[in-house]
Amino acid sequence: MVRNFKQMIERAEAFCAANQIRLPILLAPMAGACPPSLSIAVANAGGLGACGALLMQPEAIKTWASEVRAGSNGAFQINLWIPEPAPRRDAAAEQAVKAFLASWGPPVAGDAGDARPPNFDAQCDAILEAGPTVISSIMGVYPPEFVEQMKARGIKWFANATTVAEAKLAAQAGAEAIIAQGMEAGGHRGAFDAGKAEAGMVGLFALLPAICDAVKLPVIASGGISDARGVAAALILGASAVQIGTGFLRCPEAKIPTAWADAIGITQPEDTVVTRAFSGRLGRSIATPYARAAVDAPKPAPYPVQRGFTQAMRDQAIKNNDIASMQAWAGQSARLAPARNAAEVVKDFWEGARSLLGT
Ligand SMILES: Cc1cc2nc3c(=O)[nH]c(=O)nc-3n(C[C@H](O)[C@H](O)[C@H](O)COP(=O)(O)O)c2cc1C
Repeated sequence: MVRNFKQMIERAEAFCAANQIRLPILLAPMAGACPPSLSIAVANAGGLGACGALLMQPEAIKTWASEVRAGSNGAFQINLWIPEPAPRRDAAAEQAVKAFLASWGPPVAGDAGDARPPNFDAQCDAILEAGPTVISSIMGVYPPEFVEQMKARGIKWFANATTVAEAKLAAQAGAEAIIAQGMEAGGHRGAFDAGKAEAGMVGLFALLPAICDAVKLPVIASGGISDARGVAAALILGASAVQIGTGFLRCPEAKIPTAWADAIGITQPEDTVVTRAFSGRLGRSIATPYARAAVDAPKPAPYPVQRGFTQAMRDQAIKNNDIASMQAWAGQSARLAPARNAAEVVKDFWEGARSLLGT
């Protein structure tokens, strides 16, 4: 048994050596919740820093990378969502959603639904220029030309997958590692077909060994890992590393609103929901009063229209530090997230996992 555990550690160490990190703990890229301070702390502790660049203009992406490099010579990943076709609009349905939202925040502006994320191609160019160790994807695969460009620069591509079929597609498209995102995960679901996200909810205990069996690539476990037990379990199920989001959100370096950080600390596994009510794409959040009320409300508009509609409400919630209508993403192991410095969290998770495995 001990010999087997040693082999698991060796697999993790090989992954670390190949990706310029000292510990197999990856910060999850979290759009809107990934300040340089958090990546600096994680990278200096030996893990992989991360930037969720979805909403960042090209200049902001380059500035983020320079700020992290000013504080650490460690490795980091930059992440994008793969864009989907433009949404189909329905004026009458949108009116009903706007009327519902007006009771949770300021009136929704007439053109709020027209807001779009920054240009994807320009973001890709900026990421290549920033030159991270890893570029990661979620919700699909990168176009072949971009994959070629990153590989020519020696940048690795890690692809999120929520099913075995997606993992195989990503491997065929040239991904160098698969991030297995279990349904426990906080934030948006990475389903390649956004419309099928509810149907493809697979728990990490089933998904991880299945992906390890299906692809000949290192697999990174993600979703509901917020302590050393989760890290050790992931290694036993075949992972080469773990990617953790919610588990880092209570660290002071994450700088999220205190109402969100406090709520994470008391959220039991059954106190999160998957909802389209914030952005139009499915994501797991704390079951806040708004997320609960949305269950019986008019069907959310498609992404990114709904995101535009909820912008004013979400901004007001942050300003007022009001959890009721805040976009409070969290995974099912939220309660375990430690309110401690990120460096201590990285160290405790890894040393704790090693001690559990007796290595
Ligand atoms: C606040 C928040 C924002 C997120 N944003 C992104 C993102 O922009 N890109 C991405 O690939 N994953 C994103 N995720 C999902 C994470 O990459 C990861 O799958 C998840 O955090 C793992 O589950 P855990 O939160 O239980 O650790 C986000 C998660 C959270 C909690």
